[in-house]
Amino acid sequence: MEQAWVYSDIVKEHFLNPRNFLMGDEANYPHDAEGIVGNPVCGDQMKMFIQVKDEKIVDVKWKTYGCASAIASTSALSELVKGKTLDQALNVGPEEITAYLGGLPQHKFHCSVLGHEALAAAIQNYRNLL
Ligand code: FES
Repeated sequence: MEQAWVYSDIVKEHFLNPRNFLMGDEANYPHDAEGIVGNPVCGDQMKMFIQVKDEKIVDVKWKTYGCASAIASTSALSELVKGKTLDQALNVGPEEITAYLGGLPQHKFHCSVLGHEALAAAIQNYRNLL
């Protein structure tokens, strides 16, 4: 029997048209810092690159070996954090991301953590470089 599709239309749209996804070689994208994390639950990985000016994220790009939920979540996160200060961006957590997406299936909630942690790693990298 066919199973019902459980992703919201917003999740599907972000998965199919991910915002701020880094196409091509990261060496061609000028960035101030980067962060990479792995999800211990599934082994997926996320890498994030940020441009920072006056303590604000002026641009963000990312790439991943993650699943559909991780792609949609990080796409949403990338929209949510642009223009925010570093501290404000750190406060954009999985709850805000999943709310922005109209929800995620309970067992896919951990996927929304991946982008958040990669961004936190990139911000830490930026601060370490100061
Ligand atoms: S299953 Fe790995 S991030 Fe979603």
